[in-house]
Amino acid sequence: MAEVVLLFLSMVALLGFPTTKADYLAHVCPNTTVFTPNSIFQTNRDQLLYTLVDNASRDTGFYQTTAGNQISEETVDGLFLCRGDVSADACRVCVYTAASKVVQMCPVEKQVVIWYDDCMVRYSNQSFLSTAEDSPWVFMRNTTNATQVGDNRTTLFNQVLANTMIGLVLEVLIAADKFATKEDSTVFTTLYTLGQCTQDLPTPNCSGCLTGAIARLPFCCSGKLGGRVLYPSCNIRYEVYPFYSSPPPPAPVATVRKGKNKLSSIVIPSILAPVALCVLVVVVAGCFIRKLKRAKRQQNEAENDMTTVESLQFDLGIIEAATKKFSADNMLGEGGFGQVFKGTLDNEQEIAVKRLSKNSGQGVREFKNEVLLVAKLQHRNLVKLLGFCLGGEETLLVYEYVPNKSLDYFLFEQLDWSRRCTIIGGIARGILYLHEDSRLRVIHRDLKASNILLDASLNPKISDFGMARMFGVDDQTQGSTRRIVGTYGYMAPEYAMEGLYSIKSDVFSFGILLLEILTGRKNFLGFHPTTPEPTLLSYAWRLWNEGKVLELMDPLLKYSFNPKEFLRYIHIGLLCVQEDANNRPTMSSVVLMLKSENIRLSKPERPAFFTGRSINDHCHTLGDLHY
Ligand SMILES: *[C@@H]1O[C@H](CO)[C@@H](O)[C@H](O)[C@H]1NC(C)=O
Ligand SMILES: *[C@@H]1O[C@H](CO)[C@@H](O)[C@H](O)[C@H]1NC(C)=O
Ligand SMILES: *[C@@H]1O[C@H](CO)[C@@H](O)[C@H](O)[C@H]1NC(C)=O
Ligand SMILES: *[C@@H]1O[C@H](CO)[C@@H](O)[C@H](O)[C@H]1NC(C)=O
Ligand SMILES: *[C@@H]1O[C@H](CO)[C@@H](O)[C@H](O)[C@H]1NC(C)=O
Ligand SMILES: *[C@@H]1O[C@H](CO)[C@@H](O)[C@H](O)[C@H]1NC(C)=O
Ligand SMILES: *[C@@H]1O[C@H](CO)[C@@H](O)[C@H](O)[C@H]1NC(C)=O
Repeated sequence: MAEVVLLFLSMVALLGFPTTKADYLAHVCPNTTVFTPNSIFQTNRDQLLYTLVDNASRDTGFYQTTAGNQISEETVDGLFLCRGDVSADACRVCVYTAASKVVQMCPVEKQVVIWYDDCMVRYSNQSFLSTAEDSPWVFMRNTTNATQVGDNRTTLFNQVLANTMIGLVLEVLIAADKFATKEDSTVFTTLYTLGQCTQDLPTPNCSGCLTGAIARLPFCCSGKLGGRVLYPSCNIRYEVYPFYSSPPPPAPVATVRKGKNKLSSIVIPSILAPVALCVLVVVVAGCFIRKLKRAKRQQNEAENDMTTVESLQFDLGIIEAATKKFSADNMLGEGGFGQVFKGTLDNEQEIAVKRLSKNSGQGVREFKNEVLLVAKLQHRNLVKLLGFCLGGEETLLVYEYVPNKSLDYFLFEQLDWSRRCTIIGGIARGILYLHEDSRLRVIHRDLKASNILLDASLNPKISDFGMARMFGVDDQTQGSTRRIVGTYGYMAPEYAMEGLYSIKSDVFSFGILLLEILTGRKNFLGFHPTTPEPTLLSYAWRLWNEGKVLELMDPLLKYSFNPKEFLRYIHIGLLCVQEDANNRPTMSSVVLMLKSENIRLSKPERPAFFTGRSINDHCHTLGDLHY
């Protein structure tokens, strides 16, 4: 039977595969689950491979199917996945090569994965459709070190790699074909990274798969010039040279030029010339048809995106019914952008509706687009934006409902030390996501205790992000603005005084939040009346310099806190509120510093007391990197 498959496959090959070569990487097929030769299972396996190869000419680069009927209980699930940037031809060659190779290398095994440079083929008697599988897995690396031994740039290399990889994940999740590449040239060499999930994976499962693969990098490939982690459901790769074709897929013109070169290198007898011309015409036509198909697919995707915007749109009647016509009983609070109401939809889902007091400063279409982008920002430490509603005079934003009140309302006394640490860590990860992991690079600009909501298990969720975008205040990730949306007391001096904002202004606000959470005191309001200091910040700075940081501790924590950790957290807080924005760490450093005790923290410079600015250029030093 295996021979029959091979014969069939080689016939397909003769019928029209270009002579590209597929590079084998690895395969896994445990001999613990095997079938008897010439069994029903084998018939189904062979059928499956036919189908995969047959469908490899589709230009989706992915196909999954099941062979055999359910009754026989000998069904085989299988799929192929081509790298997102390879041409349809290369994909066909690769799937064909993999399918013919695998019947030789795994003749009787039931559970098989084989990886090539350009594609992966997988089948199993176990159904795996839509689930993320991280076993078996393989890693590969370039054994050359990125730098000489002892060169301190290795740490930087690892760090930039981690950051790039994290950014890559989001791009994969957003991509229609779950494939993305990302480059970074902040280190001494350009890093090229690639990530891909099988297209059947739901977004969270794809995200989980990629994150798991990235977590393997420090163990397999730390400091190495290149590396890959291959899972059955996803894979990642990085190199210091370009190994994929750049995002716009190879244009048909290039293919035609290749064809011409090939033809011109042979002397074509005049009788054959018309034939060659026909072939050329067919090839060109084929390319255009394929291009048309691709264009059509992209159009369909664009339409899908439109329907996504529509699906975010709520009917005004539904919102009015849910909030009992915005009754006072349903009001949860009032923020900078308007009142917030609690609502319950027909399906019992609870929502929070923000009734915007002013119209968005931009057109309806831009507003919808921004809402769509902000709705795509999803993280466990962010309040989820479910949609919007435009009707009559109303502009409403619909959010998931978070049961507990905001952090400032929430009595600090109910939170013990470890809970406070969890909250700080969650807030930091939420901001990090906004700053670096999301494609948008959102600067919150109004981080404060009342914008941190706590869910039923007291996990923090940041609210009110993306408001500047949705209001068209500006669409840059940093710059200067006349419209200051922040809150005094939390605002970085350069933002409050000069309207200059950047991710470092959020870091400042985070530092204030951290100090408030640890000390149980507010920066301005309600600050301890018996101390002469005007703000918590100046008080903290004085105690720090006098070596009496422990006096800052919230007395309610005295039975649950850990002094060493307390000191470190205050230290991190002070680094975040330094006057010079350049000195403040980024959120990714903050997350690392919070997580690891072994990171050496630099000495904090003077915080900002709103008394003018000083300039200095001290840089922040980071310890070892954890992914
Ligand atoms: C399975 O493979 C292992 C090592 O790869 C080998 O030692 C063992 O004999 C094989 N078992 C069977 C049943 O072929
Ligand atoms: C797959 O095959 C193995 C070995 O023959 C068997 O133990 C297992 O139950 C099978 N799984 C399914 C889902 O049929
Ligand atoms: C996929 O393969 C099956 C079986 O060979 C075939 O009937 C079907 O037409 C193929 N589909 C496409 C789109 O090539
Ligand atoms: C995604 O992963 C989760 C958790 O591993 C799993 O429960 C769920 O079934 C997966 N989703 C699908 C569609 O398989
Ligand atoms: C390792 O990386 C270097 C530099 O890019 C490259 O020249 C070399 O071919 C790579 N080696 C392997 C085995 O990939
Ligand atoms: C590469 O780095 C590792 C650990 O940093 C070191 O043990 C090894 O000797 C280095 N190899 C070369 C060729 O420099
Ligand atoms: C790295 O080493 C160079 C000299 O080899 C030194 O000048 C530089 O300060 C070091 N950088 C860090 C961050 O330690």
